[in-house]
Amino acid sequence: MKIDDLRLLLDDMSIEEKIMQLVQLPGAVYESGAAVTGLSDLSLFEKYKKLAGSLLGVRGADKVKAIQDEYMAAHPHHIPLLFMLDVIHGHDTVFPCPLGQGATFEPEVSRKGAAIQAKEAAADGIQVTFSPMVDLVRDARWGRVVESTGEDPYLNGEMASAMVKGYQGDSVSDKEHLASCVKHFAGYGASEAGRDYNSVELSEYTLRDKYLKGYKKAIEAGAKLVMSSFNTLNGIPSSGNKWLMRDVLRDEMGFEGVLISDWGAIGEMVPWGFAKDLKDAARLAIEAGVDIDMCTESYAANLKDLIESGDIDVKLLDEAVFRILNLKNELGLFEDPYHGASMERYEEIRLSKESREVARDAVRKSLVLLENRDDTLPIKEKKIALIGPYAAEKNLHSSWALSLDPEKTVTLMEAAGESDDVNLFIGMNQGISASANRDKVVRVAKGSTILDNDSTTVIGTYTNDNFDDENASLLCEAIEVSEWADTVVLCLGEGIGQSGESTSKTNITLPEIQMELFYEMRRRAKKLITLIFTGRPLDFEHIPELSDALLICWRPGTEGGHGIWDILTGRFSPSGKLPMSLPYTVGQAPVYYNAFATGRPKPTVGQSSFTTRYLDCPNEARYPFGYGLTYSKFEISKVELSGHAISKASGNTITASVTVTNTGVTAATQTVQLYLRDMVATRVRPVKELKGFKKIRLLPGESGTVSFEINEEMLEFWTLDNKFDSECGEFKVFIGFDSTTDNEAEFILDI
Ligand code: BGC
Repeated sequence: MKIDDLRLLLDDMSIEEKIMQLVQLPGAVYESGAAVTGLSDLSLFEKYKKLAGSLLGVRGADKVKAIQDEYMAAHPHHIPLLFMLDVIHGHDTVFPCPLGQGATFEPEVSRKGAAIQAKEAAADGIQVTFSPMVDLVRDARWGRVVESTGEDPYLNGEMASAMVKGYQGDSVSDKEHLASCVKHFAGYGASEAGRDYNSVELSEYTLRDKYLKGYKKAIEAGAKLVMSSFNTLNGIPSSGNKWLMRDVLRDEMGFEGVLISDWGAIGEMVPWGFAKDLKDAARLAIEAGVDIDMCTESYAANLKDLIESGDIDVKLLDEAVFRILNLKNELGLFEDPYHGASMERYEEIRLSKESREVARDAVRKSLVLLENRDDTLPIKEKKIALIGPYAAEKNLHSSWALSLDPEKTVTLMEAAGESDDVNLFIGMNQGISASANRDKVVRVAKGSTILDNDSTTVIGTYTNDNFDDENASLLCEAIEVSEWADTVVLCLGEGIGQSGESTSKTNITLPEIQMELFYEMRRRAKKLITLIFTGRPLDFEHIPELSDALLICWRPGTEGGHGIWDILTGRFSPSGKLPMSLPYTVGQAPVYYNAFATGRPKPTVGQSSFTTRYLDCPNEARYPFGYGLTYSKFEISKVELSGHAISKASGNTITASVTVTNTGVTAATQTVQLYLRDMVATRVRPVKELKGFKKIRLLPGESGTVSFEINEEMLEFWTLDNKFDSECGEFKVFIGFDSTTDNEAEFILDI
């Protein structure tokens, strides 16, 4: 439809029709009559359903078509409904959780994954996904770190931009793509004390310099929607924050798309004590420019009164409706209200061999090798024990993979069993596959439950009346298998419901029952390779020093087993790097690499009183941002600069180069990282900031040059003049394999 026609349509709509375009209803009621509606009075649903402009959570091409047909036929202007869903890291084919994707340091992996998610979800009736989540995260207590790509603004921005491009393709009217909704604007990842939904206090400096950058990149990549966050930012709930939404998001960032509230967030301004009632909340939200009210009746019940009483200008309503109509138009819904949804097509494309291959590649690239003493990995032994609650676990996704069938997930046990050279047994007896010409034997034992008894997860409390007996017999079997084996691969991890929304924790260790298993295995295993499945950084207690190898597997998704087995057996070398610092203990939270030096920096070697320090723990992370081993060894040359000055006036650049050599015996990929530091500025600057990364694959003995171009823009920060600008002076450039690198050179910025 032409823009002029959209305007005519808008002019022709009644006020009620217009208001209802701004209302999003939960699809749960269509699905099952469930009471999860966000509406105080269920009977309202029947009333609203005739006109509400969008639905959340309905999927299935036939169902979507039926709802759409009925809705459009009854709608006075036959305007199509919009169907939205959280397609976060997979629809059918599930990719590593976003934190795992961050670890790939390869935006293209995320772009490809998002494109597959969009294709599957679009065929299944979805038109908008609430992804990517770009919230910068520093505090492992906050369970939603699993949904973010980590602690660094630059990495987050690159990943977010790639995801948006993957979901949206060249045009959202294309039936294989979705409109992407960036969330949660803004600063949601900084919830105080890591407690979900809590308030956020950020100086404008930190907000601009760190937290807003990722969202901005996603918007620049063309994201069609933005979601407001639950939190307050410096005392103001986002959904009522006019400055944030109108001045920053719209005017400065140039966002012209649809702004949707998070679930119930408009209504939550009442318990926050920011709005008197839902009517007041509606006024505040529409004034702030929130176009869609997700699952409250704030807009539906109050906007008309507010307009008629003159409390708000009808222009605010019109601009919001127009943005929504425009999105529907951009998606091509006026021509094809199903956006290509088709059961046949869905069945044909879902979980295709090609999609699985992309997911498997993503898993391989997301795994982070933290320890590998005496080259324990890849596995060389023939008698291998796969032990632990994740050895044969199907739930390898996060709680945000809403539509996958876990039965389609490949477990580590299944992947091992598929190998040509493996005879697989469960426990000591039950043979799964056996053939004389296979030279490896893999035995599998669960060892323990995932959760401790009576532990709380977002899904509910885990209670098991047979907990002790069950675990005693699981442990017995594991002990037997571990004593038989030459090497034990111990598969531990958090439960699926222990990270994600509303899963904040004050203790980020593994469940006790798994730690007991760990110590038993350590006592018995000749070699112990520990795998950790997790959605957040954990306090590993003594696991790192007591394991011969330690591999972080995140929540790897559908192809988890395959990708991990590929790495364990050496088909591929690991290349993942930490997207978030891993602490020694929860007491360090928040811990992140791009911090300020303080006036009393602790010496790197030795202790010194009255410096910034803990008495009982290092300041630094246990494993720093950007860290991860490969199966080879790499050397890096000193940083060479093409010049020693950038001049603001001439706009010249400096090329910083290093030569990287694979000095090991295995072909491997290394991620070379560029960091900068502004030595003296009118505002204290971080000790390092990531400004670029490049991957290089080298054969044993091979060398390659990696270069980065440094320009003036990379030196900018949010200055006292309230703008991004650079300041003349000295800078350091660091190039290395993680954020602790001291491989540095210096240059200056002059006028
Ligand atoms: C979450 C959002 C999500 C929305 C819709 C909320 O509870 O915070 O991230 O997109 O629900 O499912």
